[in-house]
Amino acid sequence: MQIIITGGAGFLGQKLAKTLVNSAVEFSELVLVDIVLPLNSTDDEYVKCIQADLSEPEEAFRLISNETSIVFHLAAVVSSHAEQDFDIGWKVNLDLTRNLLEACRKVKPDIRFVFSSSLAVFGGNLPEIVTDQTAVTPQSSYGSQKAMCELLVNDYSRKGYVDGRVLRLPTICVRPGKPNLAASSFVSSIIREPLHGLEAICPVSVDLSLWLSSPNTIISNIIKASQLPADKFGIWRTVNLPGIGVTISKMLESLEKQTDKMIRAKVKFKFDEKINIIVSSWPGKIDNSRALEMGFEADQNFDEFILQYKNEHLK
Ligand SMILES: NC(=O)c1ccc[n+]([C@@H]2O[C@H](COP(=O)([O-])OP(=O)(O)OC[C@H]3O[C@@H](n4cnc5c(N)ncnc54)[C@H](O)[C@@H]3O)[C@@H](O)[C@H]2O)c1
Repeated sequence: MQIIITGGAGFLGQKLAKTLVNSAVEFSELVLVDIVLPLNSTDDEYVKCIQADLSEPEEAFRLISNETSIVFHLAAVVSSHAEQDFDIGWKVNLDLTRNLLEACRKVKPDIRFVFSSSLAVFGGNLPEIVTDQTAVTPQSSYGSQKAMCELLVNDYSRKGYVDGRVLRLPTICVRPGKPNLAASSFVSSIIREPLHGLEAICPVSVDLSLWLSSPNTIISNIIKASQLPADKFGIWRTVNLPGIGVTISKMLESLEKQTDKMIRAKVKFKFDEKINIIVSSWPGKIDNSRALEMGFEADQNFDEFILQYKNEHLK
């Protein structure tokens, strides 16, 4: 029983691998594959790291085998990158996913295919509370690419070519490391950088409400999705994972509460129209009820996000 993580060198890929090796999920081999060679930070002898550009169709066929049971498909180029480079966005975020689905279909058509979608499938004039039934209206190339992949995974599942599970991930905070090309990168920076004594720029208003999940909760939900029986998803394989709605001002209050005024003052405001247009088009509030009924978890409050980061990265 082989498990594959695409995007295995990335933030979630690495965290998922570490969590899987310490979980009750059984596997004979855990393959991390990425365009950059993934690290095996697990020290587990059953973990294999492969460097491959999965947007090349033959790579997907080289990867998927009769041994494959679960594919966690996390490889992607993130929102602002896909917005800046139209060709790369479509090649990686759409074509690559189709290649992987085709390889699963042709090689072993019962693989559990867990796809990481995003709230960026929503945008524009949204209802106050978004549900699993709200139509997708993306306002970015990244969101459009994710929305199209969601439909692909649903159709391949309907045909019995894969056993797909599509997860719309909230924005994840606090992400460790350096800022990246995601439009939402500042959401982690405004907490992470001050905690390390550095300044951070907030490009949006303090009133903006974001839909957030902590890293530990998201990883636990991704693993859960791979273990649920297919009938829990029913005929619609797409689920909005639980998150909590938090405004920038609440995030900064929480930062101040857990540190002090000086640390909070490290966050400076410099409005960025391009980033604001993308992130303020995402929903600030989602009805979690279907996901919670299915057994997915939600974080309780934003203080926990900061504590989680401090426990894992500041000791
Ligand atoms: N982190 C978040 O807040 C968030 C929110 C919503 C959705 N998601 C989705 O979750 C997934 C993982 O996110 P992440 O934060 O770990 O991103 P990440 O950028 O850290 O990881 C993505 C990985 O994909 C790899 N990749 C890109 N092109 C590739 C190619 N051609 N072949 C093989 N690998 C390639 C990158 O090298 C990178 O390591 C992505 O699909 C992302 O869209 C993340």
